[in-house]
Amino acid sequence: MWGGRFAEGPASVMREINASIPFDKRLWRQDIAGSKAHVAMLAQQGIVSADDAAAISAGLDQIAAEFAADGITENLDLEDIHMHVEARLAEIVGPAAGRLHTARSRNDQVATDFRLWVRDAIDMVDAGLKALQIALVTRAGEHTASVMPGFTHLQSAQPVTLGHHLMAYYEMIRRDRSRFADARARMNQCPLGSAALAGTGFPIDRHATAAALDFAKPTDNSLDSVSDRDFALDYLMAATQCSLHLSRLAEEFIIWASQPFGFVSLPDAYSTGSSIMPQKRNPDAAELVRGHAGRIAGCMTALVITMKGLPLAYSKDMQDDKPPVFEAHDLLGLSIAAMTGMVGTVTFRTDRMRALAESGFATATDLADWLVREADVPFREAHHITGRVVKIAETEGKPLADLPLPTLQAIDARIDARVFDVLTIDASVASRKSHGGTSPDRVGEQIKAARAELNIG
Ligand code: ARG
Repeated sequence: MWGGRFAEGPASVMREINASIPFDKRLWRQDIAGSKAHVAMLAQQGIVSADDAAAISAGLDQIAAEFAADGITENLDLEDIHMHVEARLAEIVGPAAGRLHTARSRNDQVATDFRLWVRDAIDMVDAGLKALQIALVTRAGEHTASVMPGFTHLQSAQPVTLGHHLMAYYEMIRRDRSRFADARARMNQCPLGSAALAGTGFPIDRHATAAALDFAKPTDNSLDSVSDRDFALDYLMAATQCSLHLSRLAEEFIIWASQPFGFVSLPDAYSTGSSIMPQKRNPDAAELVRGHAGRIAGCMTALVITMKGLPLAYSKDMQDDKPPVFEAHDLLGLSIAAMTGMVGTVTFRTDRMRALAESGFATATDLADWLVREADVPFREAHHITGRVVKIAETEGKPLADLPLPTLQAIDARIDARVFDVLTIDASVASRKSHGGTSPDRVGEQIKAARAELNIG
């Protein structure tokens, strides 16, 4: 490639450390699309002849067909995907192929290819997340009135509805989709034509290449353009955040599937047995989603540290931007698909959830609230009275709703029979009608709004 200046070839370790083809071959579609846009613009501007441009463009189409059919034969001497395409183009087109690289450098080329790739990756993730949201609202819709214990500190706190719980994850995924959409909008500017770092003396039309590649506009500073990897970091940060959400849902399924909880039975399709313990049914897919969140965060950290302190403009360190993005993307895609499958097909043991919600004194707050509302007791005092009631219920091994009225009145004479209206878990959830609250009515509204947002009626 640089025989003009270099007398000796590279050491074999140099060939190996320098080559990015083993991983950047994933950019081939974007590389060819970028080159086609570039050569069309060069012809339009009279920088290359129409004949040469047509030959180059046809050659690029042929290479695309070959790569799609046969894959890419890696040659470390050709370093990266850009040189692989150019070398094959020279074989097909002859010397005119050399005109393609006029008014560009691999620095703006790789920045363009990678942006195109990340933009496609975001579109794929968004479609996956939408499918997960559909699974969540669908299952939530089946369980707007299914009562389960709500937890804080993983201690039974107040009864909630399963629909409400699932819709909490809908909200997280909604924020993830908006983060990816922000990243997409911000990165949608085309670096092509920034050349090595300083722009070019050729009369190129950067607006034309930007439009041809569906970017909103060209980037505005050539130095920034070839050194910027914010778009990759934005992707990785959004992916990290998203993977955290997925890992939390995965963790709930793992806990819920355990025998002491027994809230769900995970589908066979997402579980494994044990080679030694016949009774086992392990939540492996959920555990791997939980684990993948760690790896995705690791990918994000890797690129943060690669970029830290790099001076303008391009440095070869930046070639290391791709493996973490590719790895995180693959892991995230698998995690989203696995969670979508699990949410869609898990069996919820609502009888078991109800039994546990009833056993955990989860309506204690309702008793305290009743004392405030109906007997004008200050909340702190009501809290104290309720604590004494819970203590007795615990000693007698009964749910609050099963304590006889005289027992309650012995603790505080202001309690009367109306209190039983709020001590059941159904009454408790039905009463929580504040905006965003757990009552079946409110959850039904949340689901309705979500279905409208997803365009599924
Ligand atoms: N393979 C390189 C990368 O991914 C392409 C850019 C090379 N530019 C250079 N000046 N060596 O970063």
